[in-house]
Amino acid sequence: MMEKVIVHEVGLRDGLQNQSKHVHTDSKLEILSALIASGIKSIEVTSFVSPKAVPQMSDAKELYQSLPKKPGLHFEALVPNLKGYERATESGAKTIALVLASTDTMNRKNINMSLDEALKVNLDVIRRANNEGIRARCYISTALHCPFENYVNPIEVLKIADKLDTAGADELVIADTTGGGNPQQVDELFKALVISHEPKKLAGHFHDTRGMGLLLAWVALQHGVRKFDSSIGGLGGCPFAPGATGNLATEDLVFMLNQSGYETGIDIVKVRNAVKVAQGYVDQKLGGNIVGWLDTQKSL
Ligand code: HMG
Ligand code: MG
Repeated sequence: MMEKVIVHEVGLRDGLQNQSKHVHTDSKLEILSALIASGIKSIEVTSFVSPKAVPQMSDAKELYQSLPKKPGLHFEALVPNLKGYERATESGAKTIALVLASTDTMNRKNINMSLDEALKVNLDVIRRANNEGIRARCYISTALHCPFENYVNPIEVLKIADKLDTAGADELVIADTTGGGNPQQVDELFKALVISHEPKKLAGHFHDTRGMGLLLAWVALQHGVRKFDSSIGGLGGCPFAPGATGNLATEDLVFMLNQSGYETGIDIVKVRNAVKVAQGYVDQKLGGNIVGWLDTQKSL
């Protein structure tokens, strides 16, 4: 039997948060429909953050309340604090994604908190989510490289992972915010992580700034990780991490996994169509490495 891998689409959140051109709620819903039509079932649709910090996400409530109700779909929203948690759950979110960076400066730049403050907020929100039956997915950002402090001590990442897990995190998402990581680092980090955390509790979130995203996902896959974030067409980047471009493109990840005998349940041709739909709403040129080749194929 083929092993399943979950491709978790983050383009609508991580991708669009960095777009200066306003994308209307209806357009986001159109992109979402194209993603769902391709077989993608796990989607981070928005973030409940300060609209002053990220204006593109100011329609979070409206968007969340307009999501399709089809069974089997799994939606989540990013929250930076308790206020975000409350806004998200009041809007119907059953899974929230928390964000904590491994370095002090990145937390200050991203969510205006020190590492210690951000850790406390994360632990409080995780415990509240556990009590209220809400699933808590926890990003550990700048897990491989920090745009401000540069070096990231893997021991710190492991300590943060332990604290989040002990508090009741449902999932630990190792995030290469800037795309500055390398395969050797990912190998060593995941080798250490799987000693204390079940691989099914881990996920990888790789940005493709230096073209390493696919390789980093492959290395994590070898350590038993079976869930990866990606964004349609490689859309986006973090507005608070200078130099970071979009996530690993969904079409590249899906193609690699399907070709390598993993079951994603996702149709690559329909993903290509979703890239075209998203392209209609952003100024950035979209498309992962596989798009050029896909476009030359008469039948697939
Ligand atoms: P702050 O200014 O320190 O917040 O911002 P505050 O607590 O002092 O509040 C200031 C105002 O914001 C108040 O309103 C609050 O009510 C309001 P006012 O009294 O001025 O009218 N406020 C909120 N409004 C809506 N939703 C909220 C919320 N919280 C406070 N949740 C804050 C701190 C965290 C709010 C701000 O810095 C923020 O929203 N940051 C979000 C940054 C962000 O979205 N970053 C990108 C996502 S993370 C990412 O991309 C990395 C990831 O992809 C993984 C990876 O690649 O590493 C996940
Ligand atoms: Mg990201």
